[in-house]
Amino acid sequence: MRAHHVALTCLAVLATQAGADEALDAKALYEARCGGCHALDADRTGPHHAGVFGRRAGSVAGFAYSPALAGSGIVWNEVTLERWLQDPEALIPGQRMNVRVSDPAERRAIIGYLRAAR
Ligand code: HEC
Repeated sequence: MRAHHVALTCLAVLATQAGADEALDAKALYEARCGGCHALDADRTGPHHAGVFGRRAGSVAGFAYSPALAGSGIVWNEVTLERWLQDPEALIPGQRMNVRVSDPAERRAIIGYLRAAR
């Protein structure tokens, strides 16, 4: 009985830590994987990301997109961002990003970070 209780307490602590780590990791992951070319509030090699959720692809004024991305007609949301980060060229042939995030958990964390970046 006592062992059972200890095990449950450990699980609860682990779960809490995992939640905190994920929140921290999302920003660090974004900086590591995307920050070389993107920022939330400034256009760099890639367009700024604040407000990207619900935004039409290729619609940041003044950013020089590839014709393929600008003409894609895509709107960024969980589904399109998931496919974009899995394989940009498969989603929009002729795009110019060519960066993939192969780990599903990392994609989820980065997409969650972008959703919050309004
Ligand atoms: C090597 C530079 C580079 C890296 C690293 C990079 N991107 Fe990009 N990103 C670009 C470029 C360049 C474009 C514009 C592509 C085009 O016009 O075809 C772009 C476009 C985008 C767009 C479309 C935005 C819009 O306004 O339509 C999204 C979303 C995006 N990137 C997300 C990410 C995320 C998330 C990461 C990190 C996992 C990332 N990118 C990493 C260069 C990069």
